[in-house]
Formats: sequence, C-alpha cells, structure tokens
Amino acid sequence: MDRTEDLHEEKQVFIFDTTLRDGEQSPGASLKKHEKLQIAHQLAKLNVDIIEAGFPFSSPGDFESVQQIAAEVNGPIIAGLCRATPQDIEATWDAVKLAKRPRIHTFIATSDIHIAAKFKKTRDEILQIAADMVALAASKCHDVEFSAEDAGRTDRFFLYKVLEAVIDAGATTVNIPDTVGYTIPDEFGRLIRDIRLNVPNIDKAIISVHCHNDLGMATANSLMGVMNGARQVECTINGIGERAGNAAMEEVAMALKVRKAYFEGCHTNLNTAEFYATSQMVSELTGMPVQPNKAIVGRNAFAHESGIHQDGFLKGRDTYEIMHPQDVGLSKSSLPLGPRSGKAALKAKLMELNLEIPENVIPEFFEAFKRFADEQKFVNDEDIAALVKNFDSARSSAV
Ligand code: KIV
Ligand code: ZN
Repeated sequence: MDRTEDLHEEKQVFIFDTTLRDGEQSPGASLKKHEKLQIAHQLAKLNVDIIEAGFPFSSPGDFESVQQIAAEVNGPIIAGLCRATPQDIEATWDAVKLAKRPRIHTFIATSDIHIAAKFKKTRDEILQIAADMVALAASKCHDVEFSAEDAGRTDRFFLYKVLEAVIDAGATTVNIPDTVGYTIPDEFGRLIRDIRLNVPNIDKAIISVHCHNDLGMATANSLMGVMNGARQVECTINGIGERAGNAAMEEVAMALKVRKAYFEGCHTNLNTAEFYATSQMVSELTGMPVQPNKAIVGRNAFAHESGIHQDGFLKGRDTYEIMHPQDVGLSKSSLPLGPRSGKAALKAKLMELNLEIPENVIPEFFEAFKRFADEQKFVNDEDIAALVKNFDSARSSAV
C-alpha cells in the first residue's frame, strides 16, 4: 500500500510538545529545573504524545533537566534535541535513555542560506553528515527524529534527497520545519504533499511539521500540513517560542476537534480539558502573559460583551460559540457587563446575583446601568449590587 492510500487509515495526529525546548527559547522565558518538571507532569496529564524536554548538550542545567524528566515523567515519549554531531548525540542519548520511551531528535540545516552562512559546506557534505548522524543516533535509540532545519526555504529536490537518505539511515520521524515562519498555508501544504509523493521510502517514517509564527501563520500552516499527510505536529502551549513563537498546541488541537469532519477524521488524543490549567501554568512559570483575546485560552475567548451577542447567546449558545468552555477546561462562558451590553445580559446577571428589579421598571434601571457603564470599562458584580441598592432607595424616596 502506498502512503497516499495508507493515510486514509491513519487519522491520529501525534502531538509533539516543544514548550520546554523551543518555547523556553522565548526571550526571558527561561525555566528552573523544578519548573520544567512541573510543566512536564502537566503535559503528561494533557496526554501529549511526545515531550521535547530540552537540548541536553546546550548546558549542564538542560542536561540534568532532560534526564530528570526522562526518569520521572511517565506516559509520553521523552525527546532531547541535538545538532548533528557525535558529541551532541552522545549527550542527548545519555540524557534521555532512562525514559521508558526515549527519542533522539537530531537536526541540521538544509537551505542554501543556512548551509552557506553557518556551515560553509556543500550540499553533498550536509547530506552525508545528516545520514551519518542519523545512523549514529539509530545505533543507540530505536526512535530517531530528523529535522531539516529551514526546510521551508530548502531546495525541494535536495530536501527529498536528504529525507530519503535519513530514512534509509534509520530516522523514524522526519520533521519539516518552517524555521523562519516564511511559508504560506497553501504553499506549506503542497510541500508536505510533494514530500509524500517524491520521497520513495517516506512510508517508513512519520512526517512531522514544525511551524513558526513570524507571519502569523503557524497554526494554519500546521493544519495544512495535516491535511496533506503530516501525522505529527510540533507545537507549544500558548504558542511561545523563538521570536514570534511556534504553532499553539491548543489552537491546532481544537481546530482538529471542532472541525473533525473537515479534517477527514484527523484527531489528537489530547485531554483538551487540561488546556486552560496548562496554559495558566506555563504563563505563570515563564512570566509570559496570555493576551486576553488569545484563541482558546485567552480570558476573552468565551466572553460575550455586546448586547446582540449576549442576547443571542442566552437564546442559544451555539449562536456565538463553536466549542464548549468545558472542552478546554473552563467551567462556563461569561457575559461581562459593559457599555455595549444589553438588557438580556443585565437581567441574567440580576438573576444570578439573586437581585430583584420589578419587570415594569427594568427599562428605567437599564438606563441607570447604561449611564454608569458609559463611565466604566467594566461593570462588576459589586457595582451591580450597588446600582440596585441606589435604584431602590431612589424609588422609595420618590414614593
Ligand atoms: O525551528 C526549527 O527549525 C527548530 C528545529 C531545531 C526543529 O526548532
Ligand atoms: Zn523551531
């Protein structure tokens, strides 16, 4: 069976979390060893398939941290990143080998821009190093991932040759990074499709995608990768990572869940109800706040403020919501009150707070609320209680 037919059967998309490696490369986001361990345990609860725990050769601290996660975190495969050099590969194997399911993830850049600027080598030399280093990694660990750094800007025919050679050398996953977030969804999707069609032994490896967000397309590119045959997505919680970050795991996974039919049944095995807790933990420990309008985990993601939306939501939640807040770990949606809120939400709030305003004076109370809200950005529960109290006393003194 060739890979094209085969794909119709394989619907599980493996989630490779790189929050602790690429995510931690966000400026200012560095984490202590115990914080990495705490996040790794939470990622296991979220049920990610692979945790990239760090880059062992990069520092003694990272080595120890990867080693500790490999020894203590059960469930996911534990991967360590390494350059395609013998010392890096040795160190990575030493760090991950205690895991029940270890993975060596080795990479080398394949684009001419990187080859010329960083290595001053020929393409053939890079091809040879990639194959030799994957063979070395495979001699230690049966699970080896190879990444062609800057694949998004690599000459197609050279990329096919490199992928074929590393698969022959023992790579079980081949990762296609759009390292600089340069590609456009349709273009990236075609790249994955063409790899499937032009790398003769591609059926022996899983295709992975690793997209950066420099043009704001990391999630879209990753999903186009899946549409075209990728079955591993590399991503981070809250989309943190180098420069503008990586594809956000919560966005990729919820897109697959909410639009499962569109993605022809492709799905993850994540426990998505852990997203909110994981997002909060990563934000607190890295010191990187989550923007309020961040998809899935931002504090406004399930908040409806305008009167029309609040009224529609109260009549039927699916008017303005495409997923349940519980699916991502929130207890409920919210209807914050502000200057654009309507009567329906105000009445719902009065009921929730057990406050009574007779139906015939609701329009008058609504006017008082609007005047107050115009002066405020946000009207909280205490403000509503005070408004009701003032309104009641004004009415009694008028009688
Ligand atoms: O962005 C990138 O190319 C990487 C690789 C090391 C996988 O992070
Ligand atoms: Zn990256």
